[in-house]
Amino acid sequence: MSNPLKQLILRYKRNKGEVAINSRKSFVVNSKFPKLENAQLSTQNLNVYINGAHILKDVTVDIPRNKITCIIGPSGCGKSTLLRTFNRLTDTTEGVKITGDVLLGDRSITKASGTEITELRRNIGLVPQKPCPLPMNIYANVVYGCRIHGIHGRSKLNAVVRHYLRAVGLWDEVKDRLRSPAARLSIGQQQRLCLARSLAVEPNYLLADESTSALDPISSRTIEELFVRLKEEYSIVMVTHTLRQAMRIADYVVFMYLGEVIEAGEAQQIFRNPQKELTQRYLKGAFS
Ligand SMILES: Nc1ncnc2c1ncn2[C@@H]1O[C@H](COP(=O)(O)OP(=O)(O)O)[C@@H](O)[C@H]1O
Ligand SMILES: [Mg+2]
Repeated sequence: MSNPLKQLILRYKRNKGEVAINSRKSFVVNSKFPKLENAQLSTQNLNVYINGAHILKDVTVDIPRNKITCIIGPSGCGKSTLLRTFNRLTDTTEGVKITGDVLLGDRSITKASGTEITELRRNIGLVPQKPCPLPMNIYANVVYGCRIHGIHGRSKLNAVVRHYLRAVGLWDEVKDRLRSPAARLSIGQQQRLCLARSLAVEPNYLLADESTSALDPISSRTIEELFVRLKEEYSIVMVTHTLRQAMRIADYVVFMYLGEVIEAGEAQQIFRNPQKELTQRYLKGAFS
């Protein structure tokens, strides 16, 4: 098996938290981060209002596990808002009112409070649109979430940094300058660093909001390829306004228009045989 992330996770599962990063040493990297079983993300009759405007309208969707789900639709249709309800980022929006529910398995995300929200956000990580490295060095960026969640041992953190930077293909590029500011990396490298930071707290779901739109084509493809590899262990929800990107990598598609989910289903079915006229017109490029 060539994928180092997969190897680590398999060892993690086998050893119930004891992770052998290399053959000589063994660390408990993250015994605090249990994987949730069967915790599928879904919404039920979700409505979001912002200052009285009805932004999401009665959205009921299931987001499948271990797949790449692409949320598509014209600008302003509510893709980002939907994504933000998944990890309660909507809490930061003024004048927001939410009815209905967002669920992770049988746990309500909309009704979570206090430490529950912190734990949910760990489980449902967000890769933002533009890379946003913290004003710290590369090493500190990767372990930021781990430290927040109480992992401090140097050998553990070293192992986390090495492992996740390898997982995003950045290790060889930065291993000699781990203590230099993350801001000095190229934009494409910064986005892979942000991805490593998200992965380091072992989320179940990874949310990505147009995470390749600020990148050059090569960096963008690198991130896409990473997502395709990562879906073996993570469930990925991607907002994209690039239909071609969705066609390349989506397993499952949610098409939105004016705050409503018009159609959702397997990518093959949506792209080849959409059922709704609006979807057909959108896919033909009638509006964007
Ligand atoms: N903080 C906010 N205040 C007011 N309106 C907002 C806010 N955030 C989003 N909206 C509105 O909600 C709608 C959906 O926005 P958004 O979810 O960002 O769409 P998309 O990501 O599909 O482009 C838009 O009409 C937008 O103007
Ligand atoms: Mg958006």
